[in-house]
Amino acid sequence: MATAQPGLWKRHEIFEKNSVLLLFGALIVVAIGGLVEITPLFYLKSTVETVEGIRPYTPLELAGRNIYIREGCYLCHSQMIRPMRDEVERYGHFSLAAESLYDHPFQWGSKRTGPDLARVGGKYSDQWHREHLRDPRAVVPASIMPPYAFLDRPLEAEAIADDLKANRALGVPYSDEMIALARNDLKAQLDPDGPGAADLQRRYPGATLRDLSGDKGQVAEMDALVAYLQVLGTMVDFKIYEDKKNLR
Ligand code: HEC
Repeated sequence: MATAQPGLWKRHEIFEKNSVLLLFGALIVVAIGGLVEITPLFYLKSTVETVEGIRPYTPLELAGRNIYIREGCYLCHSQMIRPMRDEVERYGHFSLAAESLYDHPFQWGSKRTGPDLARVGGKYSDQWHREHLRDPRAVVPASIMPPYAFLDRPLEAEAIADDLKANRALGVPYSDEMIALARNDLKAQLDPDGPGAADLQRRYPGATLRDLSGDKGQVAEMDALVAYLQVLGTMVDFKIYEDKKNLR
């Protein structure tokens, strides 16, 4: 032992006398520590726990999500409820990682000029959303949200199948069937009595069909955006979890 110590010290001297070498040495040591912590996250199955009810977005919802991103709604709205009492009381159950599983890119956001939208689905009627988007101050007089009346224009959905494909490349489990029938499904979601309605619900369990009385057949950007807003936070049925907790 006594003879080993001076030898080690001598070798360490190299680092202590050369700052560049010390820098690289420190970098390597920190990198090893980082790898040990981060690498398993890519292999563990439990990094994002699977949760019942989470399904890929329907083509209509996905088109709405694209508009949400295009219009920069995330600049004023977050989509992540933090597990803090004030947030949970205001917005509902805190967000689960699995709820963003099929969001590429995720829409957590970092700015809340407006309220969090992670669970806005089902809070208002479709009609409320349309009126609010066209002219926010018509329904919320003190609102500072800009109007989006121009979203009444027709939705350009030619590329929707490619959108599904791009999402599949990122790990969203869209099947060949879903991709091939994306354009049909997009229209079918707006026509509950139409021929494609049952198939759509088989492919996307729990998808809400909405009747756009009046302008049937004409899909507006607004329709897609509202379909997206209405699905936010509704895929997981938290009531089941609450009941299970009570039984224990
Ligand atoms: C300049 C900031 C700003 C932008 C951009 C913005 N909003 Fe808002 N939003 C607000 C504010 C402030 C409120 C709260 C007042 C109100 O309800 O209008 C709000 C409210 C909402 C609500 C109601 C939420 C609730 O729980 O009551 C929805 C839904 C919404 N916004 C959707 C959108 C969508 C979709 C977009 C993009 C097309 C968007 N917002 C863009 C500021 C913004």
